[in-house]
Amino acid sequence: MKLTEFAFVKEFIAFAEAGWQKGWHERNGGNLSYRVPAEDIEACRDLLDFSRPYAPIGTAVPALGGQFFMVTGSGKYMSNVLSNPADTCALIQLDEAGENYRIVWGLVNGGRPTSELPTHLMNHEVKMLATDGAHRVIYHCHPANLIALTFILPLEDEYFSRELWEMMTECPIIFPAGIGVIPWMVPGGREIAVVTAEKMKIYDAAVWAHHGLFCSGADFDATFGLAHTIEKSAEIYIKVHSVVEKKRQTITKDDFIQLAKDFGVTLTEEFLK
Ligand code: 13P
Ligand code: ZN
Repeated sequence: MKLTEFAFVKEFIAFAEAGWQKGWHERNGGNLSYRVPAEDIEACRDLLDFSRPYAPIGTAVPALGGQFFMVTGSGKYMSNVLSNPADTCALIQLDEAGENYRIVWGLVNGGRPTSELPTHLMNHEVKMLATDGAHRVIYHCHPANLIALTFILPLEDEYFSRELWEMMTECPIIFPAGIGVIPWMVPGGREIAVVTAEKMKIYDAAVWAHHGLFCSGADFDATFGLAHTIEKSAEIYIKVHSVVEKKRQTITKDDFIQLAKDFGVTLTEEFLK
């Protein structure tokens, strides 16, 4: 059996292709990572090569020490994951301190994991601890409508959360905590990773101004669905405000309170003003 025949790898590849089909991954834009369960690693251990050297992650994620992650490669195109996963992706193992990684499968023609590895791993650490191990997927994409909103709305969690909730009735049920907003920062390093991970302690999604979106979820479907919902909501905002300056009617505070009650979700109180 090849690694690409394992269910988790097939799902990883299908996710990358779905993101590409949505238009969220121009060139090498965006990246994906999956915290692989120990039982899957046991099942595929014979296919892994543990001889490659460790390299620094660029940050420390001690709670993730020893764990394995499927990741996309830096500079690799999401559009090529389906046709050539072994060239575009890697399975990596972290050392016990959670400070270094080594490639145990993939990136067969050279290269390294995504430049956003510090953000992916710091988000994984925060979400694993916050969800009692449930969350396993971190996804970064460049969806046009959401990026456009970062030129229009105040860069505050409150504005983004409330406006996106208002654009589609099921949004507050899908992201009841809201969405975090991070001002423009240089991508690819520890600094933006630290700021993003702080937001991910509260939210399952964070937007990087003038750049893109990070989402976290328990599985591939939930994570993709969250990104899709946020981007669609942003698209509706852009459509509405392309036609009129001010909404004629909308979902009200009282409507949100009723919705939350009926669907059994807790909405972030201060976004309900
Ligand atoms: P990588 O090609 O290194 O994954 O970077 C793409 C990207 O979107 C950076 O934010
Ligand atoms: Zn990016």
